Amino acid sequence: CGIVGYVGFQWAAPILLEGLRTLEYRGYDSAGIATVDAEQGLKIARSTGKLHNLLVKLTADMPTAKLGIGHTRWATHGGVTEENAHPHCDERGRIVVIQNGIVENYLELKEYLLERGIRFRSQTDTEVIAHLLGLYTEELGSFEAAFGQVMGKLRGGNAVVAVDRDSPDRLIAARLGNAGAVVVGEGEGENFVASDLPAIVRHTRKVVFLEDGEMAILTESSVRYQRITGEELRKSSTTVAWDPISAAKGGYKHFMQKEIFEQPRTTTDTLRGRVDIEHGRVTLEGLALSEEQLAQIEQIHAVACGTAWHACLVLKYFVESLARTPVEVDYASEFRYRSPVLRPNSLLLALTQSGETVDTLAAMAEARQQGIPTLGILNAIGSQASRLADGGVIYIHAGPEIAVASTKVFTGMLMAGYLLALQIAQAKGILTPAQMQTHLQSLIELPGKISLLLKDTSLYDHLAEQYHHVTDMLFLGRWVNAPIALEGALKMKEISYIHAEGYPAGEMKHGPIALIDERMPVVCIATRDPVYEKMLSNIEQVRARGGRVIALINPEDTQIREKADHIIEVPSTTPLLSSILNTIPLQLFSYAMALRRGADVDQPRNLAKSVTVE
Ligand code: G6P
Repeated sequence: CGIVGYVGFQWAAPILLEGLRTLEYRGYDSAGIATVDAEQGLKIARSTGKLHNLLVKLTADMPTAKLGIGHTRWATHGGVTEENAHPHCDERGRIVVIQNGIVENYLELKEYLLERGIRFRSQTDTEVIAHLLGLYTEELGSFEAAFGQVMGKLRGGNAVVAVDRDSPDRLIAARLGNAGAVVVGEGEGENFVASDLPAIVRHTRKVVFLEDGEMAILTESSVRYQRITGEELRKSSTTVAWDPISAAKGGYKHFMQKEIFEQPRTTTDTLRGRVDIEHGRVTLEGLALSEEQLAQIEQIHAVACGTAWHACLVLKYFVESLARTPVEVDYASEFRYRSPVLRPNSLLLALTQSGETVDTLAAMAEARQQGIPTLGILNAIGSQASRLADGGVIYIHAGPEIAVASTKVFTGMLMAGYLLALQIAQAKGILTPAQMQTHLQSLIELPGKISLLLKDTSLYDHLAEQYHHVTDMLFLGRWVNAPIALEGALKMKEISYIHAEGYPAGEMKHGPIALIDERMPVVCIATRDPVYEKMLSNIEQVRARGGRVIALINPEDTQIREKADHIIEVPSTTPLLSSILNTIPLQLFSYAMALRRGADVDQPRNLAKSVTVE
């Protein structure tokens, strides 16, 4: 979910709506705002579906209050209805609350409230917070004191913002555990709070991140920080160098399209300042581990979710091939529940765009508890993961990624993963400077080759024209391109809603081959690498069952060119780095298919960009 709050000299509602627009990628089942001032009291407007519906509702009668909160929802407790949309208020209509996260003990709290005769209007866990705040505020005679006490009763990861109609000059926000960031933006005569930077940076660059158990009390002219237990805190602000323009669509039709086309630049940015070709050296500035410590690493555990998990699978090939260090890859959501055996000289590597995915944070916490250093490959600056990563952070510097389906961050993670593999190889003395030079040379040539792939995309429109009506697709690849096949299938199903499966091509004959008939398009990644011949046989097996072959090949290829129904040419590079280039056509293909099918490319149904619940 996305949350935003404003108090200042301007009308709150338009600022809240604009803030929610920048956060809509965090959830878009329903949205709502509440505004408060002394004359008009509390006003709440909510509606299901996209933010646009709320906007339409409010346009005729925009509230003029100068304080308010807003929320865009990704449903967890309770279906997508207006009653379940945030904000929620207590029975007397005095306290109003928005929340991101899950109140794990909400049934217990609800029971307590029901016994006190409270009537519930929604199925959400958030409503218990509103009622508890209502009761405690009456009892203690202080909204602030009540807020701290109620926060102390909630279990789970929560980001909460609340307002009291009877003290209409302030809003209070808290962060409990890992339910995503709570960022306070300190302005001039106005202050902001939100779950992510895009909602704030167009107003102020001065921001403060709340930690677990901290709260902020915002008025027009001040922000006070304290622990929920009451101790005052001194927190210094950081200035973020974020350009709000880069979070806008530019001339592109969709954010996803824009982000695909940004990749020549973003992959360059991942390399910037880290590569010394002349001396054959890599320097990842954010590492907190010395070369000696890196040299001692015997095992890496890579954890992530979704697209970032696919990046871990690719990174395994990079690190094992280049740095001869074993890598075990886990879904972050499984890692801590399987009581992982972490040996002394191991390292936990977390890949996460947002740095706020709750499962990934939990995996990092598990490693820390077992005394294992954690290293992050991250995109969003200042996230919770960056604070948990005691082994350091490698930022990929891809800039804000707004489309829910990840593109430029995936290639950025692969670029950073390759640099990390080289850095470990360098520390372990596995690669000589001359060998390092060769690897680095291939790496720095990639952004230019990505540009070539983006030059003419009409091929994908033709493919989409021909295949947009299919119900199933297969994506096959081997070796380092096996995870790219998984990612290609994920992208296709996420945004076009076509059922797509990715498989290591060698596994095809053990199951998925049963699905192949003349209606089934099979995307085969068949660029030159040590398993090219094997891939060729797999393509024959598809053809023998009548499947339609769409093959990714290098320009100099002759063998597959003749066998495939369609070919997509991908510039040649080293076998390992082919994974990065092969990603681009698969992104373009899924984008073209989604477009042709009229799907909501940037905000596919049921998904959210940053998932802060388990
Ligand atoms: C969500 C997004 C995916 C993303 C995953 C992990 O499911 O829809 O695109 O890969 O979360 O996100 P993270 O921020 O941890 O990389």
